[in-house]
Order: sequence, then C-alpha cells, then structure tokens
Amino acid sequence: MERMEHCSAGPGACSVCGLVPLTTSRHPVRVVAQSKAMQDVLRRASRFATSDAPVAVFGETGTGKEVVARTLHANSARADRPFVPVNVAALPTELLESELFGHARGAFTGARTPKAGLFEEANGGTLFLDEIAEMPLLLQAKLLRVLQDGEVRRVGETRSFEVDVRTVCATHGDLVEAVRRGAFREDLYYRLKVLSVRVPPLRDRVEDILPLAEQFLARFGPKLRGFGADAAKALNRHTWPGNVRELENAVRHAAALASGPTVRAEDLPEELTSPPRASGPKRTSLRPLAEVEREHILAVIEGCGGSQVDAARVLGIGRNTLWRKLRAYD
Ligand SMILES: Nc1ncnc2c1ncn2[C@@H]1O[C@H](COP(=O)(O)OP(=O)(O)OP(=O)(O)O)[C@@H](O)[C@H]1O
Ligand SMILES: [Mg+2]
Repeated sequence: MERMEHCSAGPGACSVCGLVPLTTSRHPVRVVAQSKAMQDVLRRASRFATSDAPVAVFGETGTGKEVVARTLHANSARADRPFVPVNVAALPTELLESELFGHARGAFTGARTPKAGLFEEANGGTLFLDEIAEMPLLLQAKLLRVLQDGEVRRVGETRSFEVDVRTVCATHGDLVEAVRRGAFREDLYYRLKVLSVRVPPLRDRVEDILPLAEQFLARFGPKLRGFGADAAKALNRHTWPGNVRELENAVRHAAALASGPTVRAEDLPEELTSPPRASGPKRTSLRPLAEVEREHILAVIEGCGGSQVDAARVLGIGRNTLWRKLRAYD
C-alpha cells in the first residue's frame, strides 16, 4: 500500500495536513497520521491554529491529546511564545491555585517570596489545561473569571493585571456528564469548548499502528531493523485500550527484549500474543470480582511496561488507589 508522506519534509508546512512538524523539548515528534480519521483531526486543528479561541481536546486516555494541543500551538501565531502544560488533576486545590495564578509574598505559610503563576508564564502563548474535568469547583470559578476578564490576580494580592493567554484544555472524561452531575460548571464548559476536536481511539485508526510503532522503535531500539511479520500482525490485531501510550510502552518493552535484527512477536508484551482465554459464561459468572480485577490490573501494568503511573491512567483510577490495591495483593 502506498503511504502518504506526512509531516516529514523538513521544517516547512506539511502538504497533507498543512501543519508544521512538531518538536517537543524532550524529543522531536513526527505526528503520525496515516489514517483518514487522524488526518481529519489534524486538518481541523490546523484551522483552529489561526484563531485565538479556546479549544477543548477530547479523547480516550493516551490517544494523543497533548500532541494535538502542542501541534495547535506550534502552528499558531503564538508559536515563538511558551506552551505551558499543567495537569489540573495532579495537585491539591490550594497548591493548584497558587500554581495557576501565582502568589504574593506571605500569602500563606511558606510563601517567602512572590511567585508568578502559570498564566503569567504562558503570557503571549498557550496554557494547556490537562485533565480539566478533574478541576476542583472552587478553582473553576476563578478560572472562569480570568477567562472572562483577561486579568489575573495572584493569591494574596489586591491588584490584577492583564494576561494574553490562549487556553487549550483536554480530558479523557465526559464533560457533558460532569456538567449534568454538577461536578463541572456549565458556564465554564461553554467558555472552554468554543472550538473542539476529538482524537479517535487507536483501534479506529489501524493504519496508524505500524507507522507509530516504527517511530517508537527508532527511538527505543535504533539498532533494530523493524518488526517481523508475526510481530506486525500482533500489533495490528490488538485493540489498544491504552491507545498510543500503550503502543509506545509495548515497543519499549519489545526493544528491551529483542535480540535479533528485527522485533519478533515473542518480544512483545504477553497480552498482545497470548490467545484470549476461554471464558464461557459459567466461568465468568462464578469468579469473584476481586480476582478478575486483580488479573486485569496486573495485565495492564504489564502492558504499560511496568509503569504504575501509566497503568493508573489506562485504568482510569488514581495512582494512590492503584498503589493501595497492589499492596493488598502482596
Ligand atoms: N499521532 C501521533 N504521532 C506520534 N506520536 C504520538 C501521536 N499521538 C500520540 N503520540 C505519543 O504517544 C504518547 C501519548 O500521547 P499524549 O500524551 O499526547 O496522549 P494523551 O491523550 O494526552 O494521554 P493522556 O490521556 O494519558 O493524558 C506521547 O508519547 C506522544 O508523543
Ligand atoms: Mg495528556
């Protein structure tokens, strides 16, 4: 099958999606989009890049929401200004408040010096609010005010000052449902998702699997020459509940195990190659939930190359919850 060259021709804009290839601080990323579904996402993103309106990026865990947000920024008029990511689910409310908005000297115990917040850091650029559905309600009200007024006030300060920040937010959750159950403000929801884009799960863009895998292999196993036929088949057949991140971890796993010139099926994590277990309705109905849960959790950790942080994301539970469960299995 002939492959469409995409985002690979040096620094200029790509002839397929119109976007400039993405370079992150950690490593260059050629945004893989062989599938029509992903090309549509990038085309939509390239139209958004010319506007200053807030964008919401939706999609299952690990689908590439941050990649899309970074691509948007890199292609906007703000490209030479900072892209500032913040995971709003990762910090307790007070800490997140001072992280986002900054604080005055003496605003709270330990605030010995004044500190600029991420809104100030992102001035002129893009603030990427990740896991937005998890934002505490108190801070949702404050965020809404900043977005309405275009002004930020540091915690413990009386003066406000103007900021020019474009927001891109992302969530793997269902924001509409969060609004319905009162966990997310409706007014903030409409303000943040003026423009929106949904990144499809990897199982719905099978054409992307091998090109992504090859790109990851070039990073994790530069000496390896690609995937053998069996390995490629296993990669294409898997349903990838953890999406691109799970694929990345599977390739890292394979690159560490592979001894030959190419990756073989047996180098891949077990759940990609072992045949699905025979599980008649009887067997399923007679097994305790805790046992099924334990088995699934351990399989996901394995699939994530041993990373509990990634596994917690895939499972959709907090890291502490995962840790507590694992401790109970010892
Ligand atoms: N289209 C793509 N091309 C190349 N690399 C990609 C692509 N999509 C995702 N990746 C890579 O996969 C990994 C996961 O992507 P990313 O962090 O953007 O996902 P996410 O949707 O934000 O995940 P989470 O829901 O866990 O926050 C990253 O290492 C990223 O560089
Ligand atoms: Mg993310």
